[in-house]
Amino acid sequence: MTEELLSLPVPSVPHGDRGVAWLRAHVVRFSNGAEHARRRALTTKLIENVQVTSLDELAAVLGLPGSLDDIATIAPCYQPHEPVTAEADAAVERLARNHDEDTAARIGLLVQAWAATRAFAEHLRTGNPGPPVPVTRRAAQGGVVEVGLDAHPFGHGPHACPGRDVATRIAKNLAFRALHHQDEPFVLPNAWDHASAVALHASGFRAVGTTSLGVAAAHGIEDGAGLAGDETVRLARMLANLPFPVTADLESGFGGAPDEVAELVAGLGVAGVNLEDGRPHGLADPHRQAELIRAVKERAPGVFLNARIDTHWLGIATEETEDRARRYVDAGADGIFVAGLTEPRDVERLATLAPLNVLAQARTPKQLGDLGVKRISTGSLLFRAALRHTVATAEAVRDGRTPPDAFGYAEVQDLVSRGTRSCAG
Ligand code: HEM
Repeated sequence: MTEELLSLPVPSVPHGDRGVAWLRAHVVRFSNGAEHARRRALTTKLIENVQVTSLDELAAVLGLPGSLDDIATIAPCYQPHEPVTAEADAAVERLARNHDEDTAARIGLLVQAWAATRAFAEHLRTGNPGPPVPVTRRAAQGGVVEVGLDAHPFGHGPHACPGRDVATRIAKNLAFRALHHQDEPFVLPNAWDHASAVALHASGFRAVGTTSLGVAAAHGIEDGAGLAGDETVRLARMLANLPFPVTADLESGFGGAPDEVAELVAGLGVAGVNLEDGRPHGLADPHRQAELIRAVKERAPGVFLNARIDTHWLGIATEETEDRARRYVDAGADGIFVAGLTEPRDVERLATLAPLNVLAQARTPKQLGDLGVKRISTGSLLFRAALRHTVATAEAVRDGRTPPDAFGYAEVQDLVSRGTRSCAG
């Protein structure tokens, strides 16, 4: 029934030669028939193979850099049933240097992206059910009917969303970033393969990281020496397709030059990365580490870059940690991660510089939150626990004892198939 309704024509809009009325009258969204087919081809082509990490980048790719304030003004007035403000008309005129279909398609894409992508990100952050765009409208029974989008969050039929892939990547990035700006810290569990990642998400964690020890050890490689690059990249690419934000621990970038690491990060598809300044035999020069961070943020601005500072567990003074934190944040780092940091005064000080990530420790999330921490990682703990549990289970079988509890076979099959389902349905 919904499919049939969504295949009906969209309500027509009156002609307009300026402002929002002009935009409505020239975009794919409010057209039907041959006009729709022509505009749809034009619009789809504009975002074909577009790989961006943020709405800002999308605006730049569409030839409208820095236009998002104007887009935000237009968006609430875009739908034909919404009243138009003078500000929205003025914003359209600022962006529409030419009043042609191509310009309308570019502005229209950004307006379509604006509210829907942010609503989708909220949906990913909170896990609240319900489609990000709740209803659309169709011309029927001589009037306009509302059609619910529960079954088709990205629409269906001729007007189905052409921006789904671009939107999904940007929304996951936005959701992951937003998790770092909540009142309470969030716990980021670290997975080492597909099954551990989907099982963690299914139990309610909104985002999942990777553990370098887990990934390296699972492949018979020693951790911390930058030797598990291929395995890490392969896993990150696989997890990037999951319907929730994933952040990958890239250690120090596996020896790549800044532009190579930047290219790698942009191409992985993950919502976040960790880059550490620890090197196999000490610490990176902070200036060079800042250059690496800057290069990555310029190339992939929407990817959350968590700068790990390895001073603390090498016993180096907190002043050095703070100095590095400032340099990395100035270079564009979105968060800082100081492994081994437990002293409350240090935690509080560093938490003022950027969203602070620490490893899970004796304090509760609430206590860490009171100190200003925003993200609590489990690091390699889950992998080590799984290893212990595996051995304990085998020993119980061998010794004739009841083995500890485990996931059922069907449960794992279900998790894997759920994990591979795409975002928003
Ligand atoms: C980069 C972000 C996005 C872009 C560029 C984009 C672009 C578009 C465009 C151009 C259309 C009109 C297609 C046509 O009329 O033929 C459309 C329709 C639609 N979009 Fe998106 N969109 C984006 C994000 C989203 C998100 C996040 C959602 C919700 C999960 C969404 C849901 C929809 C729906 C439901 C329709 C169909 C409306 C209808 O059938 O009446 N879009 N989108």
